[in-house]
Amino acid sequence: MNLSELILNLQIPRIDDVYYPSDDSYLVIDYLDNPEFEKLFLNLSESKKEIKILDMGCGTGILGFCTIYKLISAGICKTIHLTYADVNQKAIEVTKFMINENFTHLVNLNHFKSDNVIIDYYKSDLFDTIPSQLFDIVLFNPPYLPQDEEITNPKPIDQALYGGPEGISVLSAFFRTLKTYVTADSHIFFITSTLGALHTLLPCLSKDYHITLLQNIHMFFEDFGLFHAKEKPKTTDKV
Ligand SMILES: C[S@@+](CC[C@H](N)C(=O)[O-])C[C@H]1O[C@@H](n2cnc3c(N)ncnc32)[C@H](O)[C@@H]1O
Repeated sequence: MNLSELILNLQIPRIDDVYYPSDDSYLVIDYLDNPEFEKLFLNLSESKKEIKILDMGCGTGILGFCTIYKLISAGICKTIHLTYADVNQKAIEVTKFMINENFTHLVNLNHFKSDNVIIDYYKSDLFDTIPSQLFDIVLFNPPYLPQDEEITNPKPIDQALYGGPEGISVLSAFFRTLKTYVTADSHIFFITSTLGALHTLLPCLSKDYHITLLQNIHMFFEDFGLFHAKEKPKTTDKV
């Protein structure tokens, strides 16, 4: 089953305080269905025993779930270790529920082995509570809208939408800490909106990462972009 069919069959709770998957989430899922995504992981070295995935700002957990579904259905039989993180405790609860409700879709895959799937959950402000480790795949669909000044009493759902005055503060903070959690072989996927200050963000990220726009969609007043980032090899300090 491809992901566009799978998502129609997923049980995803809809509650007020947790971001329900929308066009931005589907932009990521659409790319996961693209053969280019599989190609990134088919040639992993034999010595690599585990693929580590981080779904930052997991919301309902749909991006991480679709990623492991895709990897298992592509026949990648290594251990898959998925880490979910969200600053919103309710998102973590919804994600656990979503995994329980939908796990059978993974079990039904030919290459599924129960010992090969490990899932962790962290209520975490970005990386604050995530143990130090190196991830192979990092996904982040962040809050990307410029803060609405008329909101004086923000609700939890506002934290899913607003990324500071220019819409890029959560993503910028994420990239500042990300360096210690990835290597030059890691693949980082993130969403942006043209309503945010991309002219500031992208040149800044380009100092440390190779950044590629994978696909984008136009929605009413903004374009969403799905970007891929790969860390530039760390250079040794010159004496
Ligand atoms: C646009 S929603 C995306 C949800 C889900 N990943 C999806 O694509 O459907 C952004 C998510 O980031 C979370 N978030 C916002 N700020 C965060 C932070 N500082 N640390 C961790 N998660 C954060 C929000 O709670 C929300 O669940």
